[in-house]
Amino acid sequence: MKVCLVSRLEFKGRDIISIKDFTREEIDYVLKIAGAIEPVAKSGSDMLQRKTLATLFYEPSTRTRLSFEAAMHKLGGSTIGFAEAEIASVKKGENLADTVRVVESYADVIVLRHPLEGAARLAAEFAKVPIINGGSGAEEHPTQALLDLYTILKEKRRIDGLNIALIGDLRYGRTVHSLAYALSLYDVRLHIVSPESLRMRREVLDVIKEKIEVVQQTEIEEILPEMDILYVTRIQKERFPDLAEYAKVKGAYRIDLETLKNVKKDMIILHPLPRVEEIAAEVDETPHARYFQQVWNGIVMRMALLALVLGAIE
Ligand code: CP
Repeated sequence: MKVCLVSRLEFKGRDIISIKDFTREEIDYVLKIAGAIEPVAKSGSDMLQRKTLATLFYEPSTRTRLSFEAAMHKLGGSTIGFAEAEIASVKKGENLADTVRVVESYADVIVLRHPLEGAARLAAEFAKVPIINGGSGAEEHPTQALLDLYTILKEKRRIDGLNIALIGDLRYGRTVHSLAYALSLYDVRLHIVSPESLRMRREVLDVIKEKIEVVQQTEIEEILPEMDILYVTRIQKERFPDLAEYAKVKGAYRIDLETLKNVKKDMIILHPLPRVEEIAAEVDETPHARYFQQVWNGIVMRMALLALVLGAIE
């Protein structure tokens, strides 16, 4: 087991488990490092030569796993890992604590995605190398929140003062939980828009309402003209215990050209992806769509995080 005592802005050896573990100063620092490292994302670097990243993914992923792997390669490091638990020794009954204690012999940092809430925290208690939470059940996805903030900052040149709407599945969507925690450290006005059955989890709401103005609602139409950012999410079908409940909320929100008639000219639309039907393809070509830029920013942010936790940037 490891004891992690770090000064406020020291990231070397640090686990990244929850956005709640970050101060605003730390987030601002990570955003600054991402900005500084972005040119390297194009040119490449040997900053992490001889370092190895292990990606242990017990749930499906396209962006998180591949962007961490791409980030590691762009910094001169190497990657190992598995993309589904079925092909690992988990299948033979190996528990998570043993798995990370084995993998730490092969890798300098581990990115873990797991269906169970608390899994990343548990892994961090047993691993001697840094654990980065790549998504823990419906709980949190902190690196997604950091890349979301980086995208907002790049597009808007600020985070403070913005009107932001989080739309869709606020109950099971882990990205919105981490993003809401992160945004509550800034001076933003947050609208959280969902069907009644998919309202923001109470534990998240209680924390963010202490810090910022939060408006909870089920309709988006009347707030659209005021918004600077629409953060749209997929209804997480795979997390519903009862598919009949999913059927009731499926397609609850859909952003299309009609929706965009009365929005600010510089309003931007973000989405962690994958999308299903909540943003019509016709929106992709409008000046509002930024979800594919978010994908690029994901590599940049993950390069910054790997460089920081592996001590390549002091
Ligand atoms: N945004 C995100 O977490 O995507 P993946 O599930 O593809 O990693």
